[in-house]
Amino acid sequence: MTLSPLILGLESSCDDTAAALLRGREVLASVVMGQNSLHEAFGGVVPEIAARAHAERLDLCVEQALDEAGVTLREVDAIAVTAGPGLIGGVLSGVMLAKGLAAGLGKPMIGVNHLAGHALTPRLTDGLAFPYLMLLVSGGHCQFLIVRGPEDFTRLGGTIDDAPGEAFDKTARLLGLPQPGGPSVEAEALNGDEKRIRFPRPLLDRPGCDLSFSGLKTALMRQRDAITAEKGGLTVQDRADLCAGFQAAVRDVLAEKTRRAVALYLDESPDTPALAVAGGVAANSALRAALQAVCDETGLQFTAPPLRLCTDNAAMIAYAGSELFAAGRRSGMDLSARPRWPLDTRSAPLVGSGKKGAKA
Ligand code: KG4
Ligand code: ZN
Repeated sequence: MTLSPLILGLESSCDDTAAALLRGREVLASVVMGQNSLHEAFGGVVPEIAARAHAERLDLCVEQALDEAGVTLREVDAIAVTAGPGLIGGVLSGVMLAKGLAAGLGKPMIGVNHLAGHALTPRLTDGLAFPYLMLLVSGGHCQFLIVRGPEDFTRLGGTIDDAPGEAFDKTARLLGLPQPGGPSVEAEALNGDEKRIRFPRPLLDRPGCDLSFSGLKTALMRQRDAITAEKGGLTVQDRADLCAGFQAAVRDVLAEKTRRAVALYLDESPDTPALAVAGGVAANSALRAALQAVCDETGLQFTAPPLRLCTDNAAMIAYAGSELFAAGRRSGMDLSARPRWPLDTRSAPLVGSGKKGAKA
Protein backbone atom coordinates (compact mmCIF):
# COMPACT_ATOMS: atom_id res chain seq x y z
CA MET A 1 0.00 0.00 0.00
CA THR A 2 1.41 3.41 -0.90
CA LEU A 3 1.21 6.07 1.77
CA SER A 4 -0.82 9.20 1.08
CA PRO A 5 1.39 12.26 0.56
CA LEU A 6 2.56 14.10 3.66
CA ILE A 7 1.27 17.67 3.41
CA LEU A 8 2.50 20.63 5.46
CA GLY A 9 -0.23 23.26 5.85
CA LEU A 10 0.35 26.93 6.74
CA GLU A 11 -2.33 29.42 7.82
CA SER A 12 -1.83 33.11 8.66
CA SER A 13 -4.72 34.99 7.06
CA CYS A 14 -6.23 36.57 10.17
CA ASP A 15 -5.24 36.38 13.84
CA ASP A 16 -4.25 32.73 14.20
CA THR A 17 -0.79 31.53 13.21
CA ALA A 18 -0.97 27.83 12.38
CA ALA A 19 0.92 24.90 10.92
CA ALA A 20 -0.24 21.32 10.47
CA LEU A 21 0.93 18.01 9.09
CA LEU A 22 -1.54 15.75 7.38
CA ARG A 23 -1.42 12.36 5.71
CA GLY A 24 -4.63 11.41 3.93
CA ARG A 25 -7.33 12.32 6.44
CA GLU A 26 -5.08 11.79 9.43
CA VAL A 27 -4.04 14.97 11.21
CA LEU A 28 -0.53 14.18 12.52
CA ALA A 29 -0.17 17.59 14.15
CA SER A 30 -2.14 20.84 14.19
CA VAL A 31 -0.54 23.76 16.00
CA VAL A 32 -2.47 27.02 16.38
CA MET A 33 -0.97 30.09 18.06
CA GLY A 34 -3.71 32.65 18.72
CA GLN A 35 -3.16 36.39 19.04
CA ASN A 36 -6.07 37.48 21.23
CA SER A 37 -3.84 38.97 23.91
CA LEU A 38 -1.94 41.06 21.33
CA HIS A 39 -5.08 42.72 19.96
CA GLU A 40 -7.22 42.87 23.11
CA ALA A 41 -6.39 46.45 24.05
CA PHE A 42 -7.34 47.73 20.58
CA GLY A 43 -10.84 46.28 20.41
CA GLY A 44 -10.17 44.41 17.15
CA VAL A 45 -7.47 42.80 15.06
CA VAL A 46 -4.71 45.31 14.20
CA PRO A 47 -3.34 44.21 10.80
CA GLU A 48 0.25 45.40 11.41
CA ILE A 49 0.47 43.64 14.77
CA ALA A 50 -1.03 40.48 13.27
CA ALA A 51 1.42 40.51 10.36
CA ARG A 52 4.43 40.92 12.65
CA ALA A 53 3.24 38.14 14.95
CA HIS A 54 2.73 35.78 12.01
CA ALA A 55 6.22 36.54 10.70
CA GLU A 56 7.71 35.86 14.15
CA ARG A 57 5.76 32.70 14.90
CA LEU A 58 5.13 30.81 11.68
CA ASP A 59 8.44 28.98 11.70
CA LEU A 60 7.97 28.15 15.40
CA CYS A 61 4.58 26.65 14.54
CA VAL A 62 6.17 24.58 11.77
CA GLU A 63 8.91 23.32 14.10
CA GLN A 64 6.39 22.40 16.77
CA ALA A 65 4.15 20.62 14.25
CA LEU A 66 7.11 18.61 12.88
CA ASP A 67 8.08 17.71 16.44
CA GLU A 68 4.58 16.59 17.40
CA ALA A 69 4.13 14.58 14.19
CA GLY A 70 7.59 13.02 14.54
CA VAL A 71 8.57 13.79 10.94
CA THR A 72 11.24 15.91 9.30
CA LEU A 73 10.87 18.65 6.70
CA ARG A 74 12.59 16.40 4.14
CA GLU A 75 9.73 13.90 4.41
CA VAL A 76 7.11 16.50 3.46
CA ASP A 77 5.71 15.86 -0.04
CA ALA A 78 4.02 19.22 -0.59
CA ILE A 79 3.42 22.56 1.12
CA ALA A 80 -0.11 23.97 1.19
CA VAL A 81 -0.43 27.61 2.14
CA THR A 82 -3.32 30.04 2.56
CA ALA A 83 -2.88 32.52 -0.30
CA GLY A 84 -6.04 34.53 0.55
CA PRO A 85 -8.52 35.97 1.26
CA GLY A 86 -7.45 37.75 4.42
CA LEU A 87 -5.28 40.46 5.90
CA ILE A 88 -2.58 40.96 3.31
CA GLY A 89 0.40 41.22 5.68
CA GLY A 90 -0.42 37.89 7.31
CA VAL A 91 -1.15 36.10 4.06
CA LEU A 92 2.18 37.40 2.70
CA SER A 93 4.06 35.94 5.69
CA GLY A 94 2.64 32.50 4.93
CA VAL A 95 3.18 32.68 1.19
CA MET A 96 6.80 33.87 1.61
CA LEU A 97 7.59 31.06 4.06
CA ALA A 98 5.96 28.50 1.75
CA LYS A 99 8.02 29.76 -1.19
CA GLY A 100 11.21 29.58 0.85
CA LEU A 101 10.47 26.04 2.00
CA ALA A 102 9.39 24.89 -1.46
CA ALA A 103 12.52 26.33 -3.08
CA GLY A 104 14.85 25.09 -0.33
CA LEU A 105 13.42 21.57 -0.23
CA GLY A 106 12.63 21.28 -3.92
CA LYS A 107 9.04 20.35 -3.04
CA PRO A 108 5.81 21.47 -4.71
CA MET A 109 3.70 24.26 -3.25
CA ILE A 110 -0.06 24.75 -3.50
CA GLY A 111 -1.82 28.05 -2.82
CA VAL A 112 -5.11 27.40 -1.00
CA ASN A 113 -8.16 29.60 -0.61
CA HIS A 114 -8.82 29.97 3.13
CA LEU A 115 -12.58 29.65 2.55
CA ALA A 116 -12.07 26.42 0.62
CA GLY A 117 -10.18 25.16 3.68
CA HIS A 118 -13.27 25.79 5.84
CA ALA A 119 -15.65 24.51 3.17
CA LEU A 120 -13.80 21.19 2.71
CA THR A 121 -13.35 20.51 6.45
CA PRO A 122 -16.36 18.12 6.67
CA ARG A 123 -14.57 15.91 4.13
CA LEU A 124 -11.50 15.85 6.37
CA THR A 125 -13.43 15.13 9.56
CA ASP A 126 -16.31 13.00 8.28
CA GLY A 127 -15.39 11.98 4.75
CA LEU A 128 -18.51 13.77 3.46
CA ALA A 129 -19.07 13.09 -0.26
CA PHE A 130 -19.60 15.85 -2.86
CA PRO A 131 -21.93 17.63 -3.33
CA TYR A 132 -23.17 19.16 -0.09
CA LEU A 133 -24.53 22.43 1.20
CA MET A 134 -22.19 24.40 3.41
CA LEU A 135 -22.90 27.22 5.84
CA LEU A 136 -19.65 29.01 6.51
CA VAL A 137 -19.98 31.26 9.57
CA SER A 138 -16.95 32.89 11.12
CA GLY A 139 -15.54 36.19 12.32
CA GLY A 140 -14.84 37.30 8.78
CA HIS A 141 -17.25 35.32 6.64
CA CYS A 142 -20.83 34.21 6.27
CA GLN A 143 -22.05 32.43 3.18
CA PHE A 144 -24.05 29.51 1.86
CA LEU A 145 -22.15 27.42 -0.66
CA ILE A 146 -22.92 24.40 -2.77
CA VAL A 147 -19.65 22.45 -2.63
CA ARG A 148 -19.23 20.18 -5.66
CA GLY A 149 -15.46 19.78 -5.75
CA PRO A 150 -12.26 21.27 -4.30
CA GLU A 151 -12.55 24.12 -6.80
CA ASP A 152 -16.22 24.01 -7.61
CA PHE A 153 -18.38 26.23 -5.40
CA THR A 154 -21.64 28.08 -5.95
CA ARG A 155 -22.52 30.85 -3.52
CA LEU A 156 -26.25 30.96 -2.82
CA GLY A 157 -26.07 34.01 -0.57
CA GLY A 158 -24.13 35.65 2.22
CA THR A 159 -23.86 38.61 4.53
CA ILE A 160 -24.17 42.04 3.01
CA ASP A 161 -22.30 43.67 5.90
CA ASP A 162 -20.82 42.16 9.11
CA ALA A 163 -20.08 38.49 9.64
CA PRO A 164 -21.90 36.93 12.61
CA GLY A 165 -18.66 36.34 14.56
CA GLU A 166 -17.91 40.05 14.17
CA ALA A 167 -21.37 40.82 15.59
CA PHE A 168 -20.71 38.52 18.58
CA ASP A 169 -17.34 40.20 19.12
CA LYS A 170 -18.88 43.70 18.98
CA THR A 171 -21.67 42.66 21.31
CA ALA A 172 -19.12 41.45 23.84
CA ARG A 173 -17.22 44.73 23.54
CA LEU A 174 -20.39 46.78 24.06
CA LEU A 175 -21.22 44.77 27.20
CA GLY A 176 -17.68 44.70 28.63
CA LEU A 177 -17.24 40.97 28.07
CA PRO A 178 -13.88 39.40 27.08
CA GLN A 179 -12.80 38.65 23.49
CA PRO A 180 -13.37 36.59 21.45
CA GLY A 181 -16.99 37.57 21.92
CA GLY A 182 -18.67 34.38 20.71
CA PRO A 183 -17.83 32.14 23.64
CA SER A 184 -18.37 34.88 26.26
CA VAL A 185 -21.73 35.97 24.83
CA GLU A 186 -22.82 32.33 24.57
CA ALA A 187 -21.86 31.69 28.21
CA GLU A 188 -23.79 34.79 29.38
CA ALA A 189 -26.81 33.84 27.25
CA LEU A 190 -27.11 30.55 29.14
CA ASN A 191 -28.37 32.52 32.16
CA GLY A 192 -30.53 34.91 30.16
CA ASP A 193 -34.13 35.12 29.01
CA GLU A 194 -34.11 35.41 25.21
CA LYS A 195 -37.71 36.68 25.16
CA ARG A 196 -37.29 39.67 27.49
CA ILE A 197 -35.49 41.98 25.07
CA ARG A 198 -36.64 41.71 21.49
CA PHE A 199 -34.08 42.03 18.69
CA PRO A 200 -34.89 42.46 14.98
CA ARG A 201 -34.57 39.53 12.55
CA PRO A 202 -32.78 41.37 9.68
CA LEU A 203 -33.63 40.59 6.02
CA LEU A 204 -36.17 37.87 6.83
CA ASP A 205 -38.73 40.00 4.99
CA ARG A 206 -36.64 39.79 1.82
CA PRO A 207 -36.51 36.69 -0.38
CA GLY A 208 -33.25 34.80 -0.85
CA CYS A 209 -30.35 33.75 1.36
CA ASP A 210 -28.58 37.05 1.97
CA LEU A 211 -28.01 38.07 5.58
CA SER A 212 -27.22 41.23 7.53
CA PHE A 213 -25.83 41.49 11.05
CA SER A 214 -24.71 45.09 11.48
CA GLY A 215 -28.20 46.23 12.60
CA LEU A 216 -28.14 43.78 15.51
CA LYS A 217 -25.13 45.53 16.98
CA THR A 218 -26.91 48.90 16.75
CA ALA A 219 -30.04 47.36 18.29
CA LEU A 220 -27.95 46.00 21.14
CA MET A 221 -26.36 49.38 21.77
CA ARG A 222 -29.82 51.05 21.87
CA GLN A 223 -31.23 48.45 24.25
CA ARG A 224 -28.18 48.69 26.50
CA ASP A 225 -28.40 52.49 26.58
CA ALA A 226 -32.16 52.43 27.25
CA ILE A 227 -31.73 50.12 30.24
CA THR A 228 -28.77 52.16 31.51
CA ALA A 229 -30.76 55.42 31.21
CA GLU A 230 -33.67 53.88 33.10
CA LYS A 231 -31.77 52.14 35.89
CA GLY A 232 -28.41 53.89 35.92
CA GLY A 233 -26.57 50.74 34.84
CA LEU A 234 -26.86 47.11 33.77
CA THR A 235 -27.44 44.31 36.26
CA VAL A 236 -25.87 40.90 35.70
CA GLN A 237 -29.34 39.69 34.66
CA ASP A 238 -29.77 42.57 32.17
CA ARG A 239 -26.50 41.63 30.53
CA ALA A 240 -27.43 37.96 30.33
CA ASP A 241 -30.84 38.84 28.84
CA LEU A 242 -29.23 41.12 26.25
CA CYS A 243 -26.84 38.31 25.26
CA ALA A 244 -29.67 35.77 25.09
CA GLY A 245 -31.85 38.07 22.97
CA PHE A 246 -28.99 38.88 20.60
CA GLN A 247 -27.93 35.25 20.21
CA ALA A 248 -31.53 34.17 19.57
CA ALA A 249 -31.78 36.73 16.74
CA VAL A 250 -28.56 35.47 15.10
CA ARG A 251 -29.72 31.85 15.54
CA ASP A 252 -33.20 32.49 14.11
CA VAL A 253 -31.97 34.42 11.09
CA LEU A 254 -29.32 31.82 10.28
CA ALA A 255 -31.82 28.97 10.72
CA GLU A 256 -34.45 30.56 8.45
CA LYS A 257 -31.93 31.48 5.76
CA THR A 258 -30.54 27.94 5.98
CA ARG A 259 -34.07 26.60 5.38
CA ARG A 260 -34.20 28.67 2.18
CA ALA A 261 -30.71 27.59 1.11
CA VAL A 262 -31.69 23.94 1.72
CA ALA A 263 -34.70 24.34 -0.59
CA LEU A 264 -32.50 25.79 -3.35
CA TYR A 265 -29.89 23.09 -2.81
CA LEU A 266 -32.40 20.22 -2.86
CA ASP A 267 -33.86 21.52 -6.15
CA GLU A 268 -30.47 20.89 -7.67
CA SER A 269 -29.16 17.89 -5.67
CA PRO A 270 -32.11 15.92 -4.28
CA ASP A 271 -30.02 12.72 -4.09
CA THR A 272 -27.35 14.04 -1.71
CA PRO A 273 -29.23 15.73 1.12
CA ALA A 274 -26.38 16.99 3.31
CA LEU A 275 -25.65 20.21 5.20
CA ALA A 276 -22.34 20.97 6.85
CA VAL A 277 -21.30 23.94 8.93
CA ALA A 278 -17.82 25.41 9.43
CA GLY A 279 -16.12 28.53 10.81
CA GLY A 280 -15.74 29.76 14.38
CA VAL A 281 -19.42 30.61 14.93
CA ALA A 282 -20.24 26.95 14.23
CA ALA A 283 -18.97 26.42 17.80
CA ASN A 284 -22.20 28.02 19.06
CA SER A 285 -24.43 25.35 20.64
CA ALA A 286 -27.69 27.27 20.11
CA LEU A 287 -26.88 27.62 16.42
CA ARG A 288 -25.87 23.98 16.09
CA ALA A 289 -29.14 22.87 17.69
CA ALA A 290 -31.16 25.12 15.35
CA LEU A 291 -29.33 23.81 12.28
CA GLN A 292 -29.84 20.24 13.46
CA ALA A 293 -33.57 21.01 13.76
CA VAL A 294 -33.65 22.39 10.19
CA CYS A 295 -31.96 19.20 8.97
CA ASP A 296 -34.42 17.02 10.91
CA GLU A 297 -37.33 18.92 9.29
CA THR A 298 -35.92 18.66 5.79
CA GLY A 299 -34.34 15.19 5.96
CA LEU A 300 -30.76 16.35 5.57
CA GLN A 301 -27.68 14.75 7.08
CA PHE A 302 -26.00 17.34 9.34
CA THR A 303 -22.23 17.48 9.80
CA ALA A 304 -20.61 19.82 12.31
CA PRO A 305 -16.84 19.33 12.58
CA PRO A 306 -15.18 19.39 16.02
CA LEU A 307 -14.54 22.88 17.32
CA ARG A 308 -10.76 22.84 16.90
CA LEU A 309 -11.28 22.28 13.17
CA CYS A 310 -14.17 24.78 12.91
CA THR A 311 -12.06 27.75 13.97
CA ASP A 312 -9.02 28.81 11.95
CA ASN A 313 -6.38 26.10 11.72
CA ALA A 314 -3.82 24.77 9.25
CA ALA A 315 -5.10 21.17 9.09
CA MET A 316 -7.98 22.39 6.90
CA ILE A 317 -5.49 24.17 4.63
CA ALA A 318 -3.33 21.03 4.41
CA TYR A 319 -6.46 19.00 3.62
CA ALA A 320 -7.70 21.39 0.89
CA GLY A 321 -4.12 21.36 -0.43
CA SER A 322 -4.14 17.56 -0.50
CA GLU A 323 -7.28 17.52 -2.64
CA LEU A 324 -5.75 20.03 -5.04
CA PHE A 325 -2.45 18.12 -5.02
CA ALA A 326 -4.29 14.93 -5.96
CA ALA A 327 -5.97 16.86 -8.80
CA GLY A 328 -2.53 17.84 -10.11
CA ARG A 329 -2.60 21.48 -9.03
CA ARG A 330 0.74 23.16 -8.30
CA SER A 331 1.53 26.83 -7.68
CA GLY A 332 4.59 28.54 -9.13
CA MET A 333 6.95 31.01 -7.50
CA ASP A 334 4.67 33.73 -8.85
CA LEU A 335 1.95 32.72 -6.34
CA SER A 336 0.57 35.96 -4.98
CA ALA A 337 -1.13 36.81 -1.70
CA ARG A 338 -4.71 37.87 -2.39
CA PRO A 339 -6.65 40.05 0.08
CA ARG A 340 -9.85 39.15 -1.80
CA TRP A 341 -10.49 35.81 -3.41
CA PRO A 342 -14.13 34.79 -3.85
CA LEU A 343 -14.75 31.04 -4.02
CA ASP A 344 -17.48 31.52 -6.57
CA THR A 345 -16.28 33.99 -9.18
CA ARG A 346 -19.63 33.85 -11.02
CA SER A 347 -21.69 35.31 -8.18
CA ALA A 348 -21.92 39.03 -7.44
CA PRO A 349 -19.05 40.43 -5.34
CA LEU A 350 -19.78 41.02 -1.67
CA VAL A 351 -19.87 44.53 -0.30
CA GLY A 352 -17.90 45.69 2.73
CA SER A 353 -14.43 44.78 3.78
CA GLY A 354 -15.08 43.59 7.34
CA LYS A 355 -13.12 44.29 10.51
CA LYS A 356 -11.09 41.15 10.11
CA GLY A 357 -10.20 41.78 6.49
CA ALA A 358 -11.88 41.22 3.18
CA LYS A 359 -15.05 39.14 3.20
CA ALA A 360 -14.15 37.19 0.07
O1 KG4 B 1 -13.22 30.89 12.00
P1 KG4 B 1 -12.62 31.77 13.05
O2 KG4 B 1 -11.66 31.16 14.02
O3 KG4 B 1 -11.85 32.97 12.43
C1 KG4 B 1 -12.31 33.67 11.33
O4 KG4 B 1 -12.01 33.26 10.18
O5 KG4 B 1 -13.00 34.68 11.58
O6 KG4 B 1 -13.85 32.43 13.83
C2 KG4 B 1 -13.67 33.29 14.92
C3 KG4 B 1 -15.01 33.89 15.27
C4 KG4 B 1 -14.93 34.98 16.32
O7 KG4 B 1 -15.64 36.11 15.86
C5 KG4 B 1 -15.59 34.36 17.54
O8 KG4 B 1 -16.26 35.29 18.37
C6 KG4 B 1 -16.57 33.40 16.89
O9 KG4 B 1 -15.88 32.87 15.79
N1 KG4 B 1 -16.96 32.33 17.83
C7 KG4 B 1 -18.21 32.14 18.27
C8 KG4 B 1 -18.15 31.08 19.22
N2 KG4 B 1 -16.85 30.66 19.30
C9 KG4 B 1 -16.14 31.43 18.43
N3 KG4 B 1 -19.36 32.76 17.96
C10 KG4 B 1 -20.49 32.36 18.61
N4 KG4 B 1 -20.49 31.37 19.54
C11 KG4 B 1 -19.37 30.72 19.88
N5 KG4 B 1 -19.39 29.75 20.80
ZN1 ZN C 1 -11.56 31.38 8.87
